[in-house]
Amino acid sequence: MRHLMKPLDFSVEELEQLFDLADDIQKNRAKYAHACDGKILATCFYEPSTRTRLSFESAMLSLGGQVLGFASADSSSAAKGESVADTIRTVSCFADICAMRHPKEGAPMVAASKSRIPVINAGDGGHEHPTQTLTDLLTIRTLKGRLNNFTIGFCGDLKFGRTVHSLVHALMRYDNIRFVFISPEELRIPSYVREELKDQNIPFEEVIDLEAAIGDLDLLYMTRVQRERFFNEEDYVRLKDFYILTKAKMKKARPDMLVLHPLPRVNEISVEVDDDPRAVYFDQVQYGRYVRMALILTLLEIQV
Ligand code: NCD
Repeated sequence: MRHLMKPLDFSVEELEQLFDLADDIQKNRAKYAHACDGKILATCFYEPSTRTRLSFESAMLSLGGQVLGFASADSSSAAKGESVADTIRTVSCFADICAMRHPKEGAPMVAASKSRIPVINAGDGGHEHPTQTLTDLLTIRTLKGRLNNFTIGFCGDLKFGRTVHSLVHALMRYDNIRFVFISPEELRIPSYVREELKDQNIPFEEVIDLEAAIGDLDLLYMTRVQRERFFNEEDYVRLKDFYILTKAKMKKARPDMLVLHPLPRVNEISVEVDDDPRAVYFDQVQYGRYVRMALILTLLEIQV
């Protein structure tokens, strides 16, 4: 039985297969409409979510399966002090696969170690968010036709942004990727990620100025400042509007640079950018559903 805790749990070849499957699902919806008849997905979300939880649920429903779960820690026995390990033992009796989001790093991994069903990490604290990475990679692969030869800029909260950590880890395995980390000093990419890049001789630079960097990028990955991970509100307020991508800044970008964002967007991308054809953050949402359908089929070992 396989779980998904981080993007590196799949090899590059396995990811290619997964994306091919997602492409096929997108093109032949009817073929997959009953692939999960009789199967149940549990969504155990101890943290807020709109896209991730609903796209998992939509994915399972679109495959003919059913869903159950909880959308906040308050509405589960976590509020009574139950451990994740005990909860997953229970969920294993009711469902065939589980997507779990938790504020604590490593909680889905603890769950996986006690689980009788595949567990998918749907975001664990400031650590990893592998299914957002699958979404991001499928978006890039579809819109650019490749996953190599890119200069990618990550902008915003690179310290707490789990989607950033997971996407960097995933892209490190492709050829000729150059990373530009754009953040204030306080929100730099964690040192363990920098060390991994250095160890593997992968080129990266860290800068503060978005406007100065934007012209060199093939891809720009904007992120929200992760308010819920800050120790004090003052720091959040000081940093929250550090970057705002505007139409004026987009004029300095290449005509084919894509702007990605895992969403939710708060203030970091001005709504005036939404109509720019290079802004693909709402397209990502659609790909997220297809790639989660492909993931559910893969982890349940269902072949259509
Ligand atoms: C992200 C997350 O939860 O980490 N959202 C998502 O799942 N698409 C990004 C964020 O909350 O900023």
